Amino acid sequence: MVDVVLGLQWGDEGKGKIVDVLTPKYDVVARFQGGPNAGHSLEFNGKKFVLNTIPSGIFHEHCINIIGNGVVIDPVQLKKEIEKATEAGVDLKKNLFISQKAHLILPTHRLVDAASEAHKGEHKIGSTLRGISPTYQDKIGRSGLRIGDILNPNFKHKYEAAAQIHRKLLDSLNFNYNLAEHEPAFFEAVEFIKQFKIINSEYVINDLISKGKKVLAEGAQGTLLDIDFGSYPFVTSSNTITGGACTGLGIAPQQINKVYGIFKAYCTRVGSGPFPTEQINETGEKLRKLGHEFGATTGRPRRTGWLDLPTLKYSIMLNGVTDLICTKSDVLSGFDDVLVCNQYNIDGQITSELPFNLNDIQVNPIYQTFNGWNEDLTKIRKYADLPDTFKNYMDFVEKEIGVGVGVISVGPDREETIMR
Ligand code: IMP
Repeated sequence: MVDVVLGLQWGDEGKGKIVDVLTPKYDVVARFQGGPNAGHSLEFNGKKFVLNTIPSGIFHEHCINIIGNGVVIDPVQLKKEIEKATEAGVDLKKNLFISQKAHLILPTHRLVDAASEAHKGEHKIGSTLRGISPTYQDKIGRSGLRIGDILNPNFKHKYEAAAQIHRKLLDSLNFNYNLAEHEPAFFEAVEFIKQFKIINSEYVINDLISKGKKVLAEGAQGTLLDIDFGSYPFVTSSNTITGGACTGLGIAPQQINKVYGIFKAYCTRVGSGPFPTEQINETGEKLRKLGHEFGATTGRPRRTGWLDLPTLKYSIMLNGVTDLICTKSDVLSGFDDVLVCNQYNIDGQITSELPFNLNDIQVNPIYQTFNGWNEDLTKIRKYADLPDTFKNYMDFVEKEIGVGVGVISVGPDREETIMR
């Protein structure tokens, strides 16, 4: 049986913490898409960890962690992560499994990412510059290299062939680079990774499922960054929705049981692209400051705005969400009014459907305004103890979207969680 946990907005919904809280119920945690563009933050025992490629179950000793075939891996980044987790006392040789079929991010992919963003100028996507898009392009273009290839005696030859094409591309974009600065660390990291379990993960995961083990598939980024359903082209290069768990792990759709959908009590976005409820004003500044809304991977300030129900309903529909989890509710304490957008006005037409040309038109959100609350929510552990003003807000959200919110997170620590 496989449950899926994923973000319903533009990423940064607090998935790392939630996976960490859910993990004790699971035997396996598996990442199915994305790569080191993700930054999943976990906090416990007063310590903070950011995971980019390693699944968030790594700090639970009993848990098997699988990096699935749908993930793209930068060996340099993965080595750093492994070293940090090892320092924290985790035995990764025992409980980290890497799919042979996961694609490799080469140093040239990172350079091509930077060159292509620079070439786009003001139309840039705002990529994390981790080489994600060029790597997935090579995967779909059938010229990528995979983790399994590092065990091939011809690996250097294969690398050279791929890098040569990338170098031509970089030259055509007039991009200045010095590959010699990056290659030694890459090959060192490739050697380092060979000591971990590089496996046929689709067999392993299906075998574990058939033995009755419980698997949690951990999504990265968010539904509104999905390559098909996000605000294209301002998206990432993988399927971030539930369907991505099937292709990114090699599991059949009927294996999927629960789908946990995570949303923040307000919205944020990093990088370019449409954001209907964005607040470019004092409210936005306050949300950024109180919510510490700076990228876990890049440190960039996140754009901030009010909760947007049309996008949330869209995400719930695409993912078949069975259980909703609301994070960062504590951040809304201290606002006189809390606003929620439940419809859009597009050229006088009232709708809650996302238009195809969202990037090119003016979308005016229609807001419901709720009285705010001043109480600090971080110490509250029971739903009944939350302020009535908060409950009014949550009742409205649940009624509008038609799914109950089962977990409310009121702070970054594992303990700061209300289970209903
Ligand atoms: P890329 O995935 O690095 O190519 O970036 C494409 C877009 O997705 C950019 O707007 C990024 O800021 C955004 N993005 C990628 N990964 C994340 C994430 O984990 N959280 C939030 N935004 C992300």
